Amino acid sequence: MKVVCLPGDGIGPEVMEAAMRVLEPLPLELETQPFGGEAIAKFGTPLPAATLEACKQADAVLLGAIGLPKYDGAALRPEQGLIELRGELDVYANLRPSSDGDKVDLLIVRELVGGIYYGRRGRTEDGVVFDTCEYTEPQIERIARRGFELARKRSKRLTCVDKANVLATSRLWRQVVERVGSDYSDVEVQYMLVDNAAMQIARAAEQFDVIVTENMFGDILSDLAAAVTGGLGLAASASLADGGPGLFEPVHGSAPDIAGKGIANPTAMLRSVAMMLEHAFGEETAARELEHAVEAAIHEAPTTDLGGTAGTREFTDKVVEALGRED
Ligand code: NAD
Ligand code: IPM
Ligand code: MN
Repeated sequence: MKVVCLPGDGIGPEVMEAAMRVLEPLPLELETQPFGGEAIAKFGTPLPAATLEACKQADAVLLGAIGLPKYDGAALRPEQGLIELRGELDVYANLRPSSDGDKVDLLIVRELVGGIYYGRRGRTEDGVVFDTCEYTEPQIERIARRGFELARKRSKRLTCVDKANVLATSRLWRQVVERVGSDYSDVEVQYMLVDNAAMQIARAAEQFDVIVTENMFGDILSDLAAAVTGGLGLAASASLADGGPGLFEPVHGSAPDIAGKGIANPTAMLRSVAMMLEHAFGEETAARELEHAVEAAIHEAPTTDLGGTAGTREFTDKVVEALGRED
């Protein structure tokens, strides 16, 4: 079993080091490839052909984070590599769980390879610049099915978040979700406008179970859900295709403000590793053990974003130690 590791930029390599320490004892082949700003500097492109090919051949792809302030405003950006990689792997189902370990336990199921990120964009002769939000029925149907399947395994409640009062694509989402929902009569469906959904997540996130939503709404709401459940340092994600390798990455970015200081919280990355063990390799026991070890480290050696003093390595030492205690 092969995992392609893309450390990327900023704190990406710092949290990837933590992931590799946890993965090294396992019977997995780990291969590191250049990606993001690092790859633009060396190869003139954020997603070199060899990196893409390695990802396609892998059983799973693990990403740290990409993005650097020096590319703000540049024609070629690290983020374009990520958008292209997600599209090439067709990892349309982005699972972003948030839990506070108490009342809040929600799962955002974000459509990841459509919408405004992938629609037509450009500039007209009269200087109008446009990004287009586009969706087809099959694109919505497959993510809706994922959402219902996941809701069925959880508390059987699904909220479709959209902007159907304004957007045509959102009205199509509602139609398709309603149609797919007829195959899941055991799941209770609710529709909520995205502005209210943001307010409700900030106010009372415990009301939600599974949220299914389009690409950009899911991007924004998942940072918010992270914020109300302990912060971006904790939020993991899994991006899944139908067959083919999944992409596993923290919700957070390259955090230029703390990069190089050795203080990044590796929890989001390690929880993404746990999601990889579960979803890519069916290793549920190993995934739960890693989650418990991370939980122990959060209590015994919290990082600065959690109000503690531990650095990335000290935190990871605790994780490794706790994993040892489990066997
Ligand atoms: P960010 O997520 O990088 O950081 C937001 C804030 O959260 C910062 O204050 C940062 O210090 C903090 N933070 C994030 N992760 C943390 C961690 N593990 N431990 C402690 N604190 C953490 O968002 P941003 O600053 O808006 O974006 C920076 C760059 O990252 C941009 O170029 C953006 O495009 C990119 N980005 C990449 C990804 C990705 O690779 N998947 C995701 C989001 C943003
Ligand atoms: C995320 C990030 C990415 C997104 C960027 C870096 C392209 O914010 O994974 O949440 O918007 O999807
Ligand atoms: Mn984001």
